[in-house]
Amino acid sequence: MQGQHLTQFLISEQRRVGGTGELTLLLTDIAGACKGIGHEVNRGALAGNLDSIGSHENIQGEVQKKLDVLSDEIFVNSLSWTGHLAGMASEEHDEIIPIPEGYPRGKYLICFDPLDGSSNIEVNLSIGTIFSVLLAPNDNPTAEDFLQPGTQQVAAGFCIYGPTTILILTTGNGVNGFTLDRNVGEFILTHPNITIPEDTSEFAINMSNHRFWEAPMRRYVDECVAGKSGGREKDFNMRWLASMVAEVYRVLMRGGLFTYPMDEKLKTKGGRLRLLYEANPMSFIVEQAGGMASTGRERILDIQPVSVHQRVPVILGSKNEVARLVAYHLEG
Ligand code: AHG
Ligand code: MN
Ligand code: MN
Ligand code: MN
Repeated sequence: MQGQHLTQFLISEQRRVGGTGELTLLLTDIAGACKGIGHEVNRGALAGNLDSIGSHENIQGEVQKKLDVLSDEIFVNSLSWTGHLAGMASEEHDEIIPIPEGYPRGKYLICFDPLDGSSNIEVNLSIGTIFSVLLAPNDNPTAEDFLQPGTQQVAAGFCIYGPTTILILTTGNGVNGFTLDRNVGEFILTHPNITIPEDTSEFAINMSNHRFWEAPMRRYVDECVAGKSGGREKDFNMRWLASMVAEVYRVLMRGGLFTYPMDEKLKTKGGRLRLLYEANPMSFIVEQAGGMASTGRERILDIQPVSVHQRVPVILGSKNEVARLVAYHLEG
């Protein structure tokens, strides 16, 4: 149904599966946190949000932007006291974030990227927040308790702060998109049952890394670039936004292949994108929309994580193109 409010949608889903309402409340709180972040993103320079905060690096070795830190604070502050979570893990924190003493604990864990695509903040392009919800094995979780394969995710989503603010959500029963109506302050179901076309003639990759890629990736991209003159049945178009939320949103809307592959420079790190709060939630969403997500050699959702900030190669999007690229990897 079109025009439903997020809360109405979540309650009807809760009734359909006979849920307790805890996930509904958690997802509503997450949506609230995203509204808060979206508001700060929107105010930009008017609120001093584009100012630099010096040279503090996060655990990823990246210099944090003011909005990275602010978004993280909004997310943590909105969710830690609600009683739905037993622990949190964020891109911006070295260690997992415990629920403060004295607050009730809930049955879920959350892993999140408070602000994705943050190199685009000062150039006013789309950025977003990505999250993944897991069941907590106990109410005093350690980092090991977060190391669950992506198949265990209870829900995942992202909010994109672009020309419109849109929340994409899956609880394992398809993918739905909700646009923020600023007049009423509500997310409204505008994109029900999103499906990714199986075929595409669009790919997204950071081409400046071409010389560092592995042979199968070079073969695939070189063939796309050559198009009809190089053995492919069609010509291809290319995009690179350096913002995973914007790339995945485009893939959800009109298909495409998005990849941040392994390359020579990334070998010691395992890849560029982070498994628990980038690759897993996006792969869950993409699979639920009928697409495919792989490292090139294995399904992303099957990976047994070994650390909270683990990185992996990512290839996701329209099924037939991802399958072709995986086949190139498996051939060697
Ligand atoms: P984040 O801003 O959360 O650190 O993530 C940025 C990620 C992702 O959004 C994007 O696909 C990729 O990094 C861009 O990397 P390059 O700058 O190497 O293109
Ligand atoms: Mn970052
Ligand atoms: Mn990110
Ligand atoms: Mn980030």
